[in-house]
Amino acid sequence: MPMLPAHTLRELVAVVFRAAGAEPANAAVVAESLVATDLAGHHSHGVMRVPQYVGAIREGQLKPNAEPRRVMDEGPLGIIDGGWGFGQVAARAAAEFAAEKAHEHGVSCVALRNSNHCGRIGEYTELVAAEGLAAMAFVTGHGRSGLVAPLGGMARQLNTNPVAFTVPGTEGFPVTFDAATCAAAEGKIRIARNRGESVPEGWFIDAEGRPSTDPNDFVGPPPGALLPLGGVSAHKGYALAVLVDLLAGAVTDAGCSGRHTRNGNAMLMVAIDIARFIPLPDFQRHVRGLVEHLQSTPLAPGATEILLPGEPEHRARQEQRERGIEVDEQTWLQMIEAAESVGLTADELEKFLV
Ligand SMILES: NC(=O)c1ccc[n+]([C@@H]2O[C@H](COP(=O)([O-])OP(=O)(O)OC[C@H]3O[C@@H](n4cnc5c(N)ncnc54)[C@H](O)[C@@H]3O)[C@@H](O)[C@H]2O)c1
Repeated sequence: MPMLPAHTLRELVAVVFRAAGAEPANAAVVAESLVATDLAGHHSHGVMRVPQYVGAIREGQLKPNAEPRRVMDEGPLGIIDGGWGFGQVAARAAAEFAAEKAHEHGVSCVALRNSNHCGRIGEYTELVAAEGLAAMAFVTGHGRSGLVAPLGGMARQLNTNPVAFTVPGTEGFPVTFDAATCAAAEGKIRIARNRGESVPEGWFIDAEGRPSTDPNDFVGPPPGALLPLGGVSAHKGYALAVLVDLLAGAVTDAGCSGRHTRNGNAMLMVAIDIARFIPLPDFQRHVRGLVEHLQSTPLAPGATEILLPGEPEHRARQEQRERGIEVDEQTWLQMIEAAESVGLTADELEKFLV
């Protein structure tokens, strides 16, 4: 499998998007975001998405040079229209808007609509938290028909509806919970399929409603459906997914999970200036206290340590910055195909491997 240093992979991805028609600045933002996501260990939302975005540009669904616009700006509230450009560019603009407003008003709420796929949602809450703020983001698929079965159902109805929450950390990384409200992000099944691996039971059911671990049963035809988050407590994951859908789809007016076929993301983001409630050093004392309290537990049989949310990503970054990022063969072939479709040659990509 190709193993590339992050900076090489970033350059390669930017070259492909520039060849697909993106201005260098936008190509750089998207390349930076996708590679940062691989570095964080979430390969489901990293460079694996290059062929998807190139395809969306070709089909006219993604306008690579659209500039996000602030179409509503009223006190702590705002709306960003992504102009159907890159989701990474639009979501970054929404996060910057939310942070700016939270500094000014103590709290802010920003809606994002008309955006393509934004990738890893935690990237945007972490951007806000880097300014000493707390952030929450709720995301859905812009009215698209989903991939997740509602509790008790077996067809794809709901989007994977991720949520991300971040507060500034004290251990060298932000404390972030960032995940889909279904058992696993759909991209994780794509990655397993690319690698010829099976997935854990409980992630999805096949078209007949039977549990399966074979990614091909998810893809079909006929296709299977992801299950709500929570296993035996899936009622909570399902209920959470419905609320995320309504916050990100109805409040933003982008549309809830439904019958649309266009691929996109809508987001509702809330930012809070922690310092208006408590001086930051006192907040950090609380964080440290909680970490110590959690880590003071005796370990359960088989467990080796207690981690904080955001810590697995921090460790993955440290490891892959040293070692490089491994791109599986299938993903690499799909990237070459995407590059060739925009006029690059396999040789031009292969030269990044030496
Ligand atoms: N743009 C979209 O439409 C979309 C849709 C779905 C998912 N996503 C993204 O996909 C990515 C993966 O989602 P997922 O549902 O597979 O996430 P996941 O199941 O990998 O869970 C990740 C979260 O769990 C935390 N975590 C993991 N192990 C932990 C441990 N031992 N202790 C404490 N915390 C721990 C991580 O820090 C992280 O916050 C996310 O970045 C999400 O934003 C995007």
